[in-house]
Amino acid sequence: MNLAALNAIAEKMVAPGRGILAADESSGTIKKRFDAINVESTEENRRDYREMLFRSEGMKYVSGVILYDETIWQNAADGTPLVKLIQDADSIPGIKVDEGVQPLSHFPGETITVGLDRLAERLSKYFDQGARFAKWRAVIDIADGVPNFGAIKANAHALARYAALCQAAGIVPIVEPEILMDGAHDIETCDGVTRLVLKTVFDELYDARVPLEGMVLKPNMVICGKGCGKGAHVDDVAIRTIAALKATVPSAVPGIAYLSGGQADELATAHLDAMNRIGGFPWKMTFSYGRALQAAPQKAWAGKKENVPAAQKAFTHRAKMNALASLGQWEGAHEKAA
Ligand code: 13P
Repeated sequence: MNLAALNAIAEKMVAPGRGILAADESSGTIKKRFDAINVESTEENRRDYREMLFRSEGMKYVSGVILYDETIWQNAADGTPLVKLIQDADSIPGIKVDEGVQPLSHFPGETITVGLDRLAERLSKYFDQGARFAKWRAVIDIADGVPNFGAIKANAHALARYAALCQAAGIVPIVEPEILMDGAHDIETCDGVTRLVLKTVFDELYDARVPLEGMVLKPNMVICGKGCGKGAHVDDVAIRTIAALKATVPSAVPGIAYLSGGQADELATAHLDAMNRIGGFPWKMTFSYGRALQAAPQKAWAGKKENVPAAQKAFTHRAKMNALASLGQWEGAHEKAA
């Protein structure tokens, strides 16, 4: 393993002023997004949509793109590999390698992320295709009687095994333990679960001998559930998230790239900005957003060729807003100015 090379990739992924575009929706998820804008989810439409994003000016704010398996092998309409479009924007191609979740036996309502079998083989093919980082998402739900420690530990163990395999293949692992926003839980509950999950994940990474300098953490923010009422104040989310991470995430980790998890676009930007304004932590903090970057361009595009410029503009705007937030320089007025 070449740790210096892994570290250089990780540092580039989280360099202030840029962040990660999560465009790795599985076939089922992208179909849901396309259904919402009345676009049929064909291979060609998925390609056209993602090509539009990768050719937009907003890519200058994007340090890396997480791709789904189908996309990493696709060519643009003119025959250029989509991976090359990303590289030409000085951005790093990445790949989602987990194979989704399955029910975890003996833990009703809890899941385990699968895909470790033959992962080494798949990673080597993805490396040859240009991928330099990967993503694996563990899903933790907060509900009556869940999560349980056994399920957290099983998911953390899988994340650590995945991370070790990635590093051996020259690929930087994004370690993503996502605590869902579903439900009506309060921010204190999310705070406690986030701390327990992160502590367990870093224990497992240590046991798996994963050098933290060669990874990126993709956590949720400490936030109340979608159904919790009026929601928490932006500064409360920022202060609690920083505190929870300081208590559980070693400083050897180069950077944190948050998921948006269903937060409204501007709120996801405001939270990231507030954290970077507070500062005082040892990691770079940026975004690795899916929905919070893509909801606006999807709506503007609606599957129509004539809408491509407007959709690219919408994407560029959100990418720029989040890039400013990664520097702690975003202001509400920037949204209105656009
Ligand atoms: P969201 O920002 O939409 O949560 O997606 C990020 C991601 O990659 C979740 O796994």
